Amino acid sequence: MFYFVTTLGIALLIVFLLLLFTLKNGISPMPTSPKVRMHLLSLLPDLEEGTIVELGSGWGNLIFPLAKKYSKCKVIGYENSPIPYIFSSLLNHAPNLKIMRQDFFEKSLQDADLVVCYLYPKGMEQLKSKFEKELRPGTKVVSHTYEIPGWTPHETIEVDDLRCSKIYLYEVV
Ligand SMILES: C[S@@+](CC[C@H](N)C(=O)[O-])C[C@H]1O[C@@H](n2cnc3c(N)ncnc32)[C@H](O)[C@@H]1O
Repeated sequence: MFYFVTTLGIALLIVFLLLLFTLKNGISPMPTSPKVRMHLLSLLPDLEEGTIVELGSGWGNLIFPLAKKYSKCKVIGYENSPIPYIFSSLLNHAPNLKIMRQDFFEKSLQDADLVVCYLYPKGMEQLKSKFEKELRPGTKVVSHTYEIPGWTPHETIEVDDLRCSKIYLYEVV
């Protein structure tokens, strides 16, 4: 009985935290699909050094392959929802990857050479001005499903999935 009540309590706490942060952020920790991830990784530039940042790294579906692809770079994932953060942190064994429990709007992006995100329309709108203030010329931004409003992508890929997802690659000028 004790184990049942404890397990139920933990399960309810997990669901509560997931819902709370979904409401707070305006987006759930929905992972990037394997198909979109494959196309996104093929679109990414080669970098031998620098800083790669993922905004909202969720359960780690993109940040782990990013850390592997950019093994010589510093890779940072910002995730403020506690359950995906704890889950991905427990799985993280990459020496070049740091997953931080942070609101990415509060972190400066001035050192980033590549920014990756899968967010939501309002978030992209808010990020636009942050990108324009903080990103250096030459920095690349890759977003899938949602565009940066008013920016012209350097390259766009349409994935042949059910949603015809689009992946946008931008370069700051
Ligand atoms: C759609 S999910 C994408 C997860 C992961 N990037 C992927 O592609 O598999 C968006 C993630 O962004 C996180 N998020 C949203 N707003 C955030 C914020 N201001 N700071 C940190 N994380 C945020 C959410 O908690 C969620 O996990």
